[in-house]
Amino acid sequence: MTGVAPPDPDRRSLVRDVEAYLIGLRATYGDDVVVDPEGTVPATPDPNRGPRPASAAPPGPRAEGRGSVGEGGPRLPASPDRSAARPLDRSLPVARDHSTARPFASPLRPLAPPPTCPPGPQQTSFLPSDAPPLVAPGLRRTGAAEPGVVDFRPGPDIVRGPCRPEVRAETLRALDETEVRGCTKCRLSQARTRTVFGVGHSCARVMFIGEGPGAEEDRTGEPFVGRAGQLLDRIISSMNLRRAEVYIANTVKCRPPENRTPYPDEMEACGPYLRTQLETVCPQVIVALGRPAAQCLLGVNASLGELRGRFHRHRGIPVMVTYHPAYLLRNPDAKKSTWDDVKLVMRFLAATPDPLLLPDDGSRC
Ligand code: URA
Ligand code: URA
Repeated sequence: MTGVAPPDPDRRSLVRDVEAYLIGLRATYGDDVVVDPEGTVPATPDPNRGPRPASAAPPGPRAEGRGSVGEGGPRLPASPDRSAARPLDRSLPVARDHSTARPFASPLRPLAPPPTCPPGPQQTSFLPSDAPPLVAPGLRRTGAAEPGVVDFRPGPDIVRGPCRPEVRAETLRALDETEVRGCTKCRLSQARTRTVFGVGHSCARVMFIGEGPGAEEDRTGEPFVGRAGQLLDRIISSMNLRRAEVYIANTVKCRPPENRTPYPDEMEACGPYLRTQLETVCPQVIVALGRPAAQCLLGVNASLGELRGRFHRHRGIPVMVTYHPAYLLRNPDAKKSTWDDVKLVMRFLAATPDPLLLPDDGSRC
């Protein structure tokens, strides 16, 4: 080998992209965001993948109106050799290479189900089960045995059915329109302006679960649209995802007065709606935003500091607990921890095949 290789223009442009991306991350998480030499940013999805089909989002102005929110965030433009330039963390199982294995001509190919397509096994039993969810070692699951902790009656592991966005979107729409909008099961219904069901992709890989609607959400009917929602949007785009690609819901669908934490009996009453959302979307990973959402899903009476930074499980689905965006607005020092939690989720996603890119043989979700 003689001499130094001339600078590669593609590489220079990639470096510029990464710098722009980091500037965006620092705007969200603070100045101490650093590049992890082992690959902080996981291998990106197939650059041809693009957004998930818009038809998969629940119909109506809510889903469409917010679809482009994440697009203003820092995103790397598609580049054919991005996966080569951004190595996978070797400590993780190697993700399947969709660029060669993907059987579709294009992932944007409509995944319309045949007219007779049954909903599939994604609708699992609502019967309570004694099987405790897995919480990370050192945490004790108390369920309703301790005051203030909701026993979410988690039930059996969620069975992952075929990924049929339209079928799932229809299940969600029906739940919203026929049950949630007219719900009067708890006192929160008395003061609400609108119910806030949830938005996003019906086959989302990631489901964010917050606490309950605030004033802006109560007015618009859409979760996380106020200041905390804008920070959540930045967190989502820092994960290289769009708001329309993830699913966003809350433990309760009506605004608690004065934005107080929902009472356990309110979460309990609203639980079946969130349960159906989880069973329908069957996300690959859940991000619980704040302690009430974490307690609701995991049934543990632990502090957020004890819960965050590692994966738990809710009905077989990995759960990452992190600070609520509203808490981050009041405590910006905690953004660094949330960025650490988000990186764990990104690494998990990078090592896990996207169900929409797997063969559509109906065998997995
Ligand atoms: N906070 C939440 O927990 N949920 C929302 O939808 C908005 C703010
Ligand atoms: N306590 C909470 O309830 N939520 C947070 O996000 C942090 C601490």
